[in-house]
Amino acid sequence: MSKRFITLMLAIGVALLFAATYIYAGTAVQDAFKMETKEYAKHTKGLVEFTHKKHTEDHKIACGECHHDDKGKALELKAGDDVQKCVACHKETGKAPEGEKLAKKEKIVKYHKEALHANCIDCHKASNKKAGDPTGKKPAPTSCNDCHPKK
Ligand code: HEC
Ligand code: HEC
Ligand code: HEC
Ligand code: HEC
Repeated sequence: MSKRFITLMLAIGVALLFAATYIYAGTAVQDAFKMETKEYAKHTKGLVEFTHKKHTEDHKIACGECHHDDKGKALELKAGDDVQKCVACHKETGKAPEGEKLAKKEKIVKYHKEALHANCIDCHKASNKKAGDPTGKKPAPTSCNDCHPKK
């Protein structure tokens, strides 16, 4: 094998490696990240730290508990699969109308904050209830400041 051939093969190898990283970067999700949906004109509360990997691996929650399709049907995913951001469908980042002007479900479908709160907080409440800690300690956060650190 000529030196030139080896150099060429090495160059192709490096290029492939870069291509692989590039494709992977398109679907990668960080282990933990601050939720800061850019569509909000301004975040009024402290940014929520979401432990994505801990939820899927330690808390053993299926991807489809949080990611669904355009009909709300749970998606069957595996690590590395691509998903849409919640705001792609739960588009409104303004304040949802108070009271009964809009049914709770409609608010959730339209408003980003309502969708995120329904997803995160409803599961945390159910999970704490199931855990049934007699000391009243709540392992999954349900109060504003436990998720939104004080600014
Ligand atoms: C389980 C965690 C959790 C709890 C508890 C929680 N939130 Fe949130 N909240 C979130 C997440 C996640 C978002 C979406 C942030 C984003 O994507 O930018 C959000 C968004 C918001 C927003 C819109 C973004 C902003 O900063 O203006 C407001 C307002 C808000 N929450 C207020 C509250 C209030 C008030 C409470 C208590 C009644 C509360 N939240 C409790 C997780 C939580
Ligand atoms: C407990 C809820 C929950 C579970 C379980 C979960 N995710 Fe997520 N995931 C989220 C949230 C919330 C985001 C942030 C979405 C946003 O910013 O709109 C996210 C982000 C992502 C992203 C990055 C999207 C982007 O464009 O930034 C990918 C990819 C992803 N999840 C894939 C998965 C896969 C695959 C699984 C299962 C192995 C999974 N998720 C399990 C809630 C969850
Ligand atoms: C492709 C569009 C789409 C994306 C992306 C999406 N949703 Fe939804 N979501 C919907 C639709 C449509 C419904 C209403 C389904 C129905 O009518 O039962 C819904 C319903 C919900 C509900 C209410 C569930 C119920 O049964 O009451 C919650 C909570 C929710 N979404 C949270 C999220 C979160 C959190 C994310 C991001 C991790 C997300 N959604 C991403 C379209 C989407
Ligand atoms: C389907 C259930 C479910 C959903 C949805 C969910 N969580 Fe959790 N979360 C849990 C459980 C279970 C724990 C661990 C409680 C314990 O320690 O026993 C937890 C713990 C946490 C913790 C404490 C740190 C940790 O990872 O142990 C934070 C912060 C948190 N969740 C934020 C969020 C946010 C923000 C969302 C929405 C984007 C969310 N969770 C959605 C079930 C859920």
